[in-house]
Amino acid sequence: MRIAVLTSGGVAPGINAAVRAVAHVAFHRGWEVLGVADGYNGLLDGRLSSLSRDDLDGIMQQGGSVLGTARSEEFAAEEGQRKAYEELRRAEVDGLVVIGGEGSLAGGMGLAALGMPVIGIPATIDNDISGTDMAIGVDTALNTAVEAMDRIKDTATSHGRAHVVKVLGRNCGYLALMAAISGDAEAALVPEFETNPEALLRLLKLAYDRGKQHFVVVVAEGAQLSAEDLARYINESDGTYTTNLTELGHIQSGGKPTAFDRVLASRLGTAAVEALADGESSMMTGLRGGEVSLTPMSEALNEQRPLDPGMYRLAGILAGLPGEPENAPSAFSGQPSAFIA
Ligand code: F6P
Repeated sequence: MRIAVLTSGGVAPGINAAVRAVAHVAFHRGWEVLGVADGYNGLLDGRLSSLSRDDLDGIMQQGGSVLGTARSEEFAAEEGQRKAYEELRRAEVDGLVVIGGEGSLAGGMGLAALGMPVIGIPATIDNDISGTDMAIGVDTALNTAVEAMDRIKDTATSHGRAHVVKVLGRNCGYLALMAAISGDAEAALVPEFETNPEALLRLLKLAYDRGKQHFVVVVAEGAQLSAEDLARYINESDGTYTTNLTELGHIQSGGKPTAFDRVLASRLGTAAVEALADGESSMMTGLRGGEVSLTPMSEALNEQRPLDPGMYRLAGILAGLPGEPENAPSAFSGQPSAFIA
């Protein structure tokens, strides 16, 4: 049996650990493994090369993707998928493992529909894929954000400032919300819940009256009110706090994976090869309630993973700001509408 493995879409820490697991488990079965360069782009160009155990040495702890990753416009079209399928057939590939986010897995589903056995492994810092509690890369990206927030908090507290921290996550607020909880933020703006800047400003003033030395707001990149507009709004509306803006950007998608991501990638990579061995196709490996699971890709990609309103409310309570319901419009109302209070 000969399989191919590719990484596709936005990079996420832990991707190399998944490639390593796929290859080692395949070698253990006596299979051959081809690594595809630069995702679907490389597949379309026929850039597949044989991997050896030596190629896997030391890659688990590396950030980025040793195979290279890309978003491919050509592959997104039906014709591109047919061409990619032909390339796999030409290379005598019996099965493909796709490591990536939503778009990458959808591409894998397309190849599976053409007849190529494909198993997907969710890897994206956004954690927006249903069918897994955690995607590979989320934990590392979150730890990176929290480390940055700890430092920002030192600065904000010393200067008595407000600080807006913009985090990645596309249309999903998971990373922002978890960064807010673990980074001890006073507020968070996420795409899933309505934004209310006036209420946020009220909270900021209440915090100041209470003698707080800082006010840190985490803003998801997909939030309805952008981080830039919020920082401007606070600066223009209120003389109390000077407001700084830090965009964490791509530092979240790079870096050494955490132990959690390495273990997750190892488990999901193993499960992907086992699924191919069992004759499965168009399935995604994932982690559900601590157990490795297989979900049909069509189901996993059907809808974005919802953000838990209970966690949003909890974040508000943990922020420790005013307990009076009228002062805490979102956190205690049962209807998250604006931000963490
Ligand atoms: O989907 C992963 C992700 O890192 C998002 O969080 C972000 O919006 C996007 O990719 C960044 O993409 P690029 O690196 O192409 O700018």
